[in-house]
Amino acid sequence: MGKCPDCGTWDSLTEQTERKESAGKGRSAPMHGMNQPIALRDVPTGGFERLPVLGEEFSRVLGGGMVPGSLVLIGGDPGIGKSTLLLQAAAQFADQVGPALYISAEESIQQIKLRATRMGLDPEHLLLYSETSLDAALEQIDRVRPRLVIVDSIQTVYLEDLTSAAGSVGQVREGALRLLRLAKDTGIPMFLVGHVTKEGAIAGPRVLEHIVDVVLYLEGERFHQYRLLRGAKNRFGSTDEVGVFEMTQDGLREVTNPSQVFLAERSAGTPGSAVAVTMEGTRPILVEVQALTANTASSQPRRTANGFDMNRLLMLIAVLSKRVGLPLFNQDIYVNIVGGLRITEPAADLAVAIAIASSYRNQRVRQDMVLVGEVGLSGELRSTSQLDRRLGEAVKLGFKRSLAPSTSAPPRVEGLSVAEVRSIAEAVELALERGDDGRATTEDHQSTTNNRRPNAPRRASTDDDDEEE
Ligand code: TYD
Ligand code: MG
Repeated sequence: MGKCPDCGTWDSLTEQTERKESAGKGRSAPMHGMNQPIALRDVPTGGFERLPVLGEEFSRVLGGGMVPGSLVLIGGDPGIGKSTLLLQAAAQFADQVGPALYISAEESIQQIKLRATRMGLDPEHLLLYSETSLDAALEQIDRVRPRLVIVDSIQTVYLEDLTSAAGSVGQVREGALRLLRLAKDTGIPMFLVGHVTKEGAIAGPRVLEHIVDVVLYLEGERFHQYRLLRGAKNRFGSTDEVGVFEMTQDGLREVTNPSQVFLAERSAGTPGSAVAVTMEGTRPILVEVQALTANTASSQPRRTANGFDMNRLLMLIAVLSKRVGLPLFNQDIYVNIVGGLRITEPAADLAVAIAIASSYRNQRVRQDMVLVGEVGLSGELRSTSQLDRRLGEAVKLGFKRSLAPSTSAPPRVEGLSVAEVRSIAEAVELALERGDDGRATTEDHQSTTNNRRPNAPRRASTDDDDEEE
C-alpha cells in the first residue's frame, strides 16, 4: 500500500499493530532498576573470553571467536548454505566446548539428522529442537541452558502474542529483541539465520541489523562451490575480515589458500582472461576475470556482468571506446569473475578492461602478469591501496610482471617486474601478447570492426570466441 517515503518502492509498507507493553519491554535494559552508572576505570577488564567456532575462517570473521551473550545474524540467499554452516558450527562446538541447541523452524529433526549423517557429524552434545513457536523455543533455552543456541530462521518463528504473521517486520523485530534479552541475561551466545535476497528485498534482516551485535553475510553464487562469509557489522571486532569456504558433498570446507583455489581452473592461454588481485578484508586474493566480446547486429548490445558492478563495466567500456579506440558499440560484452566472487573495489578495473580488450582483439594477456589498478574517466591509471601486499601475494603464486600507474612511486616487490604506465591505452599494449598464438587474429579483427555482417551463418568452430548466437 502506497509508496515508501524513504526508498521510493511501492507496496512495501506494512501495517503493524503492536502491543504497547511488549514494545516497551523490548527497549528497556535487561536489569531494569538495578543498573547503575559505573566509572570507566572501575569496569572490570576481561570476562570477555571468546569461544572458538568452526575453525580459523569462521572465528576470524567473528573477530576471534564468539563473545558470550552475543547475538549474531547470518544472512544470505535461500539455499546458499546457512543451515549447513551453522549445523557444522554447532556440532563442532558441542564436541569441543559444550552443549549446543539447534532450533529449526524450517526442517524436521529427521531432516537435520539426515543432513548431519551425510556430513559425517555425530556430536554427543548437540540438541535438536524443531519448533516454530518462539515462545516455546525461549522456554527451552531457559530450561536447557546450552552454551550455544542456533535459531533457524528468524523469519519462520513467531511469537504467539503478536497478531502479525511469521516473517512480518513486527514478528522479526520483536522475536530478535526477545532473543537478545535472553542472550544478555544468560550469557548464551546465539546465531540467528535470516534469509535475505541479493537486493535485500526482505525487510527482516535490515530491521535486524540494528538489533543484533554482529551481522555476517554468506555470499556466493548458488551453483558455484565457493562461499564467502563477510562481516557487515561487528560490535566486537573489525568488519574487514572474510572467510572463504567451499561447498562440498559433505558440507562446507574451509579454504585457507583462496588465491590458489580461484586460479586453479584458470583459462590462461585463451584471449579474454586476466588476473586481478582483490583485497578481501586484510587478505589479498587473486581471481581470474573473464571477458567475452561477440558481434551483435542489435542496436542495443548486451552487457552482462557477473560478480562485477554493472555501472563500472559500462564506464570501462566507454573508456575503452573513447581512449583506446576500440569500437565496442557493436559488441555484446560479457564479464565474469570466476568462482562466484563479487568484486566491489575499483582495483579490479584494469583487469576487467584488459580482459575485454584481450577478447576483442583476440590476443592473450601475458600469462605471468597480474593487473591491479583503478581506471579513470580520461583513461588514466590510478594508484591502488595496499599495492605491495597485493603484488606480494601475486609473487607467491608465481606471477612475474605487473603494471603500475606512473604517478606514484612504483612498489618494490622482490621477484616482480613492474612496468609504469600512464594510460589504459599504454596498458593494453603492454599486457597483450601480439597475435603470436597462431590464431586468425587479423582476419577476425577485420570481421569484427566491419560493422554490419549480415546474418553470418553460425560457425561450427568453438575455437573462435568472437562469434556467438
Ligand atoms: P542450506 O544450508 O540448506 O541453505 P540455507 O540454509 O542457506 O537455505 O544449503 C542448501 C544447499 O547446500 C543445497 O542446495 C545443497 C547444498 N549442500 C551441499 O552441497 N553439500 C552438503 O553437504 C549440504 C548439507 C548441502
Ligand atoms: Mg536453511
